[in-house]
Amino acid sequence: MSLHTTRNLKIHQPENFEFDSIPDSHSWDDVHDHPSVEPIGPDAIPVIDLNDPKLIAKIGKACEEWGIFIISNHGIESELLNRLCSQMHRLFALPAEVKLKVAKTEGNDAGYGGAPVSHFFPKFSWSEGFAIVGSPVDHAKKLWPDDYSSFCEIIEEYNKAINSLGCRLIHAMLLSLGVSEEELCQTPIGDSSKVKTAMHLNSYPACTNPDWVLGLPPHTDSAYVAILYQNGVPGLQVLRCKDDISPTRWVTVPAVPNTFVVNIGDLLHVLSNGRFHNVLHRVTISKINRLSCACFFGPQADVKVGPLSKLAGLEQSPLYRPVTWPGLKKIRSVLHDKALQAIKIDS
Ligand code: SIN
Ligand code: FE2
Repeated sequence: MSLHTTRNLKIHQPENFEFDSIPDSHSWDDVHDHPSVEPIGPDAIPVIDLNDPKLIAKIGKACEEWGIFIISNHGIESELLNRLCSQMHRLFALPAEVKLKVAKTEGNDAGYGGAPVSHFFPKFSWSEGFAIVGSPVDHAKKLWPDDYSSFCEIIEEYNKAINSLGCRLIHAMLLSLGVSEEELCQTPIGDSSKVKTAMHLNSYPACTNPDWVLGLPPHTDSAYVAILYQNGVPGLQVLRCKDDISPTRWVTVPAVPNTFVVNIGDLLHVLSNGRFHNVLHRVTISKINRLSCACFFGPQADVKVGPLSKLAGLEQSPLYRPVTWPGLKKIRSVLHDKALQAIKIDS
C-alpha cells in the first residue's frame, strides 16, 4: 500500500504506529500550549445522574458553563457496552489491507479513515476511525464476508439505545432553554424524526513516546450534540479559558466506567443563540490503547438551524444566520475554527 493512499485518508496504519522516535509528520508543536490539569476543584467536570430530580436545571447549567458533562444512570446496560467494545477491538485489529477495502471515498462520510477534522491540519493524528451513517451492512460484508452479522447486530442495538438517550437529553436541554413541552415537537431538533445520527468508532493506539502526538487536534463538533463512550482509558481534554483563579488549561475528562460524556456542538450553540458552549476539545495519547465511540446528533440535511425564536426575540437579537448541517460543514472545510464567524450577524 502506498503512503500516498494513507496520506489522502489522513490515517496511519497500525504497523506505522510503532515508531521509536516520532517523525515530524506526527509531531505537533502546540501540544503543550496550555497546561493539562486533572478534573478536580473548580475544574471538576459536572457529573449528572439522569434520575436527579433537578435534572433539567443541572443540564442547562452544565451546557452553559462547560458545554460538556458526564452522565450516569443512563439506563444502557454495561453488557451492551462491553459487546460494543469487543466489536471495536475486532474491527481495528483487522489487517490494514482489509480495512482499506471500506476506506472513505470523496463525498462519502461513511467508512474507514481519519476524523473529518484531521483534514484541517497539516500533521497526522495518532488515530484511526470508522464512521457509520445508516446501515453498516455493506461495509461489514466486505470486512467479514463470513461473519458480518454479529458486528451489525451490536451496532444496531447500540444505535437504538443511544438514539433514545440522545432524544431524552436533547429534550432536557430544550426544556432548560425555556421551550415548553408543547413547543418541543414544533422545533426541528425536538422532533426526533428530523434528527439524524452518525456514529464514529475511534482507535487511539498506545504510543511509547506520547508527549508530542495528538489523537485528535483541538476542534469543536459541528453537530447539535455528541454522546461519547470511552473504554475506560482517558484521553479527551476540554479547553477552559483563563479565569480569576487559573490560566487557560486543558482539563482531562475522566473515563468513569458505565458513564457517557455529552458535549455541545456548533449547531446547538447557534440554536441556543450562543447560550450553550460549543466546547473546544482534543484527544491526547498515552501508553495504553484507547477506544471510543462518538454518536453525533444533527439535523436532516435540508433543515436550517438558526437561533430559537423564543431566545432571539425582543430582548436579544439573533446572533447567527440559519444554516444547514452540510452547509456548516462546507464552511468549516474552508474556514475551520472561524466557521461560526461567517454566519454571525453583525450587531
Ligand atoms: C471526538 O472528538 O469526536 C472524539 C473524542 C474522543 O475520542 O474522546
Ligand atoms: Fe469531537
